[in-house]
Amino acid sequence: MRTQIVAGNWKMNKNLEETEVLLSELSAKLPDTNAEVIVAPTFVNLPLAVNHLQNSVIQVAAQNMHFAESGAYTGEISADMLLNIGVETVILGHSERRAYFGEDDALLTQKVDAALAKNMRVIFCFGEELGERKSGGHFEVVENQLKNAIFHLEKEQWKNIILAYEPVWAIGTGETATPEQAQEMHAFIRKTIEEAYDEEVAAGVTILYGGSVKPGNAEEIFSKPDVDGGLIGGASLKCDDFTTIIKAI
Ligand code: 13P
Repeated sequence: MRTQIVAGNWKMNKNLEETEVLLSELSAKLPDTNAEVIVAPTFVNLPLAVNHLQNSVIQVAAQNMHFAESGAYTGEISADMLLNIGVETVILGHSERRAYFGEDDALLTQKVDAALAKNMRVIFCFGEELGERKSGGHFEVVENQLKNAIFHLEKEQWKNIILAYEPVWAIGTGETATPEQAQEMHAFIRKTIEEAYDEEVAAGVTILYGGSVKPGNAEEIFSKPDVDGGLIGGASLKCDDFTTIIKAI
């Protein structure tokens, strides 16, 4: 049985007080679940989240990190800094990082390698843009994103990889991939991994779907056999919505 995960990517939302309120609400209302629950607040609120969730099953992730150990990289955060405050999971390759901050496959390779070298877990995001889907190129785009940034990994490194398929056209748009579209892509991803590695790696890796997952559509998306949970943006900012999505898994 693969690990099922519901992760909330809070993006650049919630100040200190708001973070505390949402963490308290989530701790109080977390439904019984076999799925792992992760929240990813902004960097400055990570220590608060780690402290607040010390006795909770909810895990904390960072939304990004730099590949270097330390040094003259103004404004950046290293793996060691995250580990030092108790954050062991990091989201890498989010489409917003790719689109607005120029992160490409080569840079992401460095970041993935740096995180895994420190034994961190990586939630690796990827997904096609609208034009790529419309032209039918979405499978090729996704295959290349995986090949270029993570298919150089050794088989045993995959135990620290969580994949998050996030079609760009579904992020923050209210437009969700249909459960069938999600399943079709997730099955393709698993087949691609099996071809590059083997059945064990392909069957073992958790693949999340992200892109306008809401309380009203989560259950149907999560019911698909190759969808192992979700990476939730907007709906993870409200306790009721996020806990309803957790219940759906
Ligand atoms: P939304 O759920 O707001 O569409 O965002 C998805 C996402 O980008 C999660 O990383």
